Amino acid sequence: MFATHKIHKLEGKITIPGDKSISHRAVMLSSISKGTSRVSGFLRGEDCLSTIACFQGLGIEIEDKGEEIVIDGKGLNGLKEPENVLDAGNSGTTMRLLSGILAGQEFLTIVTGDGSLRKRPMARIATPLRQMGATIEGRDKGNLAPLVIRGGNLKAIDYASPVSSAQVKSAILLAGLYSEGNTIVREEIVSRDHTENMLTSLGANIKRENGVVTLEKSELFGQDIQVPGDISSAAFFMAAAAAIPGSHLIIERVGLNPTRTGIIDVLKAMGADIEIDNLFTSGGEEIGDIIVKGKKLKATSLTKEIMPRLIDEIPVIAVIAAVAEGKTTITGAEELKVKESNRITSMVTEMKKLGIQATELSDGMEIEGPNEIGGGQIESYGDHRIAMAMAIAGLFANAPVEIQNSECIAVSFPGFEETLKEIAK
Ligand code: S3P
Repeated sequence: MFATHKIHKLEGKITIPGDKSISHRAVMLSSISKGTSRVSGFLRGEDCLSTIACFQGLGIEIEDKGEEIVIDGKGLNGLKEPENVLDAGNSGTTMRLLSGILAGQEFLTIVTGDGSLRKRPMARIATPLRQMGATIEGRDKGNLAPLVIRGGNLKAIDYASPVSSAQVKSAILLAGLYSEGNTIVREEIVSRDHTENMLTSLGANIKRENGVVTLEKSELFGQDIQVPGDISSAAFFMAAAAAIPGSHLIIERVGLNPTRTGIIDVLKAMGADIEIDNLFTSGGEEIGDIIVKGKKLKATSLTKEIMPRLIDEIPVIAVIAAVAEGKTTITGAEELKVKESNRITSMVTEMKKLGIQATELSDGMEIEGPNEIGGGQIESYGDHRIAMAMAIAGLFANAPVEIQNSECIAVSFPGFEETLKEIAK
């Protein structure tokens, strides 16, 4: 349990732990590449450590050398049948992307996860992977983990994804590395493209055009990978600093991939003062410093089109909307219901406990601001982003906000509390 309370401002220069999506992909793709990969800036959060453990279970040597993670890639067909069940912990990315790779393996693997992950839908990946030729069984007709996967002999498919999900797109593309023919994934709204960027830089034959990704069966070659800071973690401090007049925060070397920067666009639309400096590109990923100066913010409306670019940031956006002037409406966000918790219900329930005027919608929420935020005891539902978003609410509250079950923050942001202490004035 930890508690936050009202502060005057956020000030300082910080770095943020590595990007979770890119860290997962670095371990997975390096494991099936030929040769050694060295990954710097890797996120040692519980989710990415689950990915490392799964690939060690598949016979890959992965060493944490402090400065970098060193992965001894064995090529596309170098994984071994695991002796035991693999555990993806709390991580949807681990389970879904790993399933794509396992679809290409002739051996049998069983993958499970924690109580939250065992409730999350897996049919979204099982259906296309079965169409490619893999056998996937699980509870609820193969929709729920534990999943039992036996793959091999895959054929390419042309798949129009019913959800804009990078996990679905990536699972199919990873299986596509093992499939005869051109694997094609079509998305109505383009989801984060870290898999495509990394596949390109590791040597895959991949093309992208207007929401259509085409991949040919390809070999990958190990490389040095630099993981930028996670914009989804930076978002908590960025949003808080933007909304507290007098704040001045610099967050260095954050990933600024355009499929992830919806949070910056939304904060700017709310009137925030945000600038980018020292921009460069590594492994196809844009990286730069974010400079935020605090101001009073105004309400905004978010609809379906922007969701894939900020889906993980909705909890903190909801908190900032509570102190902004006017009514913020968030719609087209049904995907929030199948995250680590139902994030629509979790956020509305917990914000109401602090006296915030929030209403649950079938596909989002409405927040009427500005609110006088009170203190209280908050439940995290074991969901890291709920815990951190509500900790940020405490920075605006007139009495302490205590977060129950806050250990889950270590899933994506080890050191969150310490970094907050460093910049809270
Ligand atoms: C992720 C994709 C998103 C995101 C998750 C990480 C990824 O999920 O919410 O935190 O690394 O591919 P969906 O693919 O379900 O949208």
